[in-house]
Amino acid sequence: VELSARDEAYLERTLVLAERGRRTAAPNPMVGCVLVRDGVEVGEGFHVRPGTGHAEVVALQAAGDAAAGATAYVSLEPCAFTGRTPPCADALIAAGVTRVVAAARDPHREVDGAGFARLRAAGVDVVLADADGRIGLAARRQNAGFRTSVTLGRPHVTYKAAVTLDGRTATRSGDARWISSAESRALVHSWRAATGAVLVGIGTAIGDDATLTARDCVPPVERQPLRVVLDRQARLPLSSRLVQTAGEGPVLVIVAPDAPGDRRAALEAAGVETLAAAGLGEALRALAQREVQSVLCEGGATLAGALLREELIYRIALFVAPRILGDPAAPGLFGEALVPATVAEGIAAVSLEPERVGADILLDAWVRDPR
Ligand SMILES: NC(=O)c1ccc[n+]([C@@H]2O[C@H](COP(=O)([O-])OP(=O)(O)OC[C@H]3O[C@@H](n4cnc5c(N)ncnc54)[C@H](OP(=O)(O)O)[C@@H]3O)[C@@H](O)[C@H]2O)c1
Repeated sequence: VELSARDEAYLERTLVLAERGRRTAAPNPMVGCVLVRDGVEVGEGFHVRPGTGHAEVVALQAAGDAAAGATAYVSLEPCAFTGRTPPCADALIAAGVTRVVAAARDPHREVDGAGFARLRAAGVDVVLADADGRIGLAARRQNAGFRTSVTLGRPHVTYKAAVTLDGRTATRSGDARWISSAESRALVHSWRAATGAVLVGIGTAIGDDATLTARDCVPPVERQPLRVVLDRQARLPLSSRLVQTAGEGPVLVIVAPDAPGDRRAALEAAGVETLAAAGLGEALRALAQREVQSVLCEGGATLAGALLREELIYRIALFVAPRILGDPAAPGLFGEALVPATVAEGIAAVSLEPERVGADILLDAWVRDPR
């Protein structure tokens, strides 16, 4: 079914509304809803956080009796099961909504088409945007964290890095402060505020001694992301900023099963949680079990290369800065992760978009789209 220009405009509005839940909705998806009757918008809503009303319910409350005979535009398939709140499909039916236009299907195993089926069974006309069309893809990407965690049991991983014009992430002696502009770094703070976890390897934790909290954000952060260090031998110094700021937000050190027990105990005593995992896949699954749906990896080339090799990076946010190091021994982005013989054997990103940020160009590359 073709969507009209009006349908597309209202669906885009639902995506804008949904976006307002970016920092708070997880582990639920971000969802926006607009109710339109006789060409007039009669109610709108978005999902703020777990336990509060779903977008459809908020919009229905705003519309009151005007919802009868209305079209409901939703950024995600209405739910069909009773979780913390009753099914939205039932609420739409009870309010007399006659048509539902959705930007994306909900891949959660308890929905996954059941919301649409419930609506259709009640005589509601249901239209779903093409999953690979402009709006369908935008809706899927908006909930990349939710969709990846419910379908794959691990968080969505975005790798963020800053490179010089010649593709270097640090000098050969390890200096990386700062490659990107102050504006780029401020943008990263806002990303930290909206991600489930920030991830680095122990090389970066020691080398940069960064705090990795979300600071100076507007509006101020309500909740710091979980800060995660992959540190097989529990080497993170007790004097590091991460350990010293454990009271400002949670820090989790993921160690190998054979990590020295005394070092783990010392970290625990300093207020840092430790957890044993055998590899990257296991570490990410452990994060998903704690309802971490999105990971912003800010690690160095060693960790980034390992994640790339295991096909765990779905998005790359690359700040390209106007500086040249001119040193082939300075580290690049992914170490020697792949070493293909031909260009064609390299990984092809599915999309690449530029944006100017301060003196830098931010390249937003999706390696793979969420289901
Ligand atoms: N320009 C940028 O955007 C940027 C970003 C980050 C870092 N940097 C720079 O990069 C340098 C640090 O690079 P790095 O490569 O050493 O840091 P890293 O990738 O963050 O950390 C590497 C370490 O992570 C640990 N690790 C744990 N599990 C791993 C796994 N499954 N696979 C791979 N490694 C794992 C390893 O130590 P164990 O074996 O002991 O566990 C490894 O040595 C610094 O100079 C920093 O300034 C630059």
